[in-house]
Amino acid sequence: MSTHTFKVNGELVSVDVEDDVRLLWVLRDLLGVKGPKYGCGINVCKACTSHINGKAFNPCSVPVGALSESDEVTTIEGLADGDELHPMQKAWIDNDVAQCGYCQPGQIMAAVALVKRCAEEGRSIDDDALDEIRNICRCGTYNRIREAIKAGADNM
Ligand code: FES
Ligand code: FES
Repeated sequence: MSTHTFKVNGELVSVDVEDDVRLLWVLRDLLGVKGPKYGCGINVCKACTSHINGKAFNPCSVPVGALSESDEVTTIEGLADGDELHPMQKAWIDNDVAQCGYCQPGQIMAAVALVKRCAEEGRSIDDDALDEIRNICRCGTYNRIREAIKAGADNM
């Protein structure tokens, strides 16, 4: 057992757990951060998509021992600015995207990371960019997701 310290949604946290426990279980079971969903557990479905240091990642595939004190994890719980929803969250509501909702935190986190990456690379949010999102939605909300990402990107 070792102590691991890193930031989650702006707060420094410390957990005592084996190095090889994957971060998704640390977030959900030890820290009570339930936004990142457990779908496959093997980095395929992307239901757990969150950000590490501003980039999308899937915490089901990262052992907690890989994190250092300077690493900052952001989950859907940390996306809003206080009571002010993130533009992508607003776009999701405006476009009535969610069906069962299970995949949606990961979809939104993937969308925000995609828009930021495209902005850094000088690319627009066109169909090629949207194709880079590989998050699975069993309810098939893909068309509404794509419309919401375009709308959210306009306000980011
Ligand atoms: S639960 Fe993380 S990718 Fe499926
Ligand atoms: S909304 Fe149900 S899995 Fe995506």
